[in-house]
Amino acid sequence: MLEGGVTALLRLERVSKVFRTGALGRGELTAVRDVSFDVEPGEIVSLIGESGSGKTTIGRMILRLTRATSGAISFNGADISSFEGRALNAYRGEVQGVFQDPFSSYNPIFTVDHTFGMLRRGYCADLTSPDWKGKLEASITAVSLDPEHVLGKYPHQLSGGQLQRLLIARALLLDIRILVADEIISMLDASTRVDVLNLLGDLKARGLGVVFVTHDLSLGYYISDKAVILRSGVVVESGSAERVFGNPLHAYTRMLLGSVAQLEERWVDDPAPADDREGEARLPPDPPDAVLVEAEPNHFVLQGPV
Ligand SMILES: Nc1ncnc2c1ncn2[C@@H]1O[C@H](COP(=O)(O)OP(=O)(O)OP(=O)(O)O)[C@@H](O)[C@H]1O
Ligand SMILES: [Mg+2]
Repeated sequence: MLEGGVTALLRLERVSKVFRTGALGRGELTAVRDVSFDVEPGEIVSLIGESGSGKTTIGRMILRLTRATSGAISFNGADISSFEGRALNAYRGEVQGVFQDPFSSYNPIFTVDHTFGMLRRGYCADLTSPDWKGKLEASITAVSLDPEHVLGKYPHQLSGGQLQRLLIARALLLDIRILVADEIISMLDASTRVDVLNLLGDLKARGLGVVFVTHDLSLGYYISDKAVILRSGVVVESGSAERVFGNPLHAYTRMLLGSVAQLEERWVDDPAPADDREGEARLPPDPPDAVLVEAEPNHFVLQGPV
């Protein structure tokens, strides 16, 4: 997925994260191992994998909420690990995250306009009041909400879907370049889900790069340009979404795809039953020296040595 020499908007190169575990920190857990992918403007890249596969950890590293143990993450060619102070603040103005539980992202004692006001002081202090107000209203309108209706409200007076949209409005207000959306629609009801998915499509049309984290492969299928399939912190398959979903090559991807009924006939000869969601435990582990190989243009799969 990496195109040598060309600077990507966001690039992860062999990124790993090792957590210290146990009371004395003597244990180690490799949550993410050697993960590489690019995100370009106007591109939705889905990170897909079961619980514990390292999706959120990757999102948190991109957002600089936690540091990578090894490897490099670069934004427009600059290594994000070097950002401190103003440079880090500027980066956070361009790369924002929206997380699963919209309620936890708001302070319950502040109204929505107060929360947005804090954002103004942090990132848009040079804007005049009328300019700020115009920008605020435009971004709230862009997520199909009525500024009049939501601005004076407290978080508990709004629905999960409205709060989720306001988080996206917040991201728009900052003119961000990359949005990390971590399981943002799991909590929403079916109709709101479609709205928020469509909203992500709008962000894409505005040229934002979106890292869409989901354990639900059918959602990834619906929305993404590129797919990165993670198994226990390792990329087992990646590439154009069309190729990965249309011609899944790794047994783990095929197992996850078992829930996407319309593709079923494609893997009738798969040794793992296609509809067996508990099949993971029975899939053979990937050999430790397996590497990602380009099986077809823009489609990589993890393979052991032959
Ligand atoms: N701060 C931490 N300290 C120790 N281990 C951690 C920490 N954060 C995550 N982990 C471990 O790293 C692994 C990956 O976790 P992560 O939250 O990235 O998975 P995920 O794919 O987002 O899962 P889910 O779908 O459940 O959200 C898990 O084994 C998790 O227990
Ligand atoms: Mg997670």
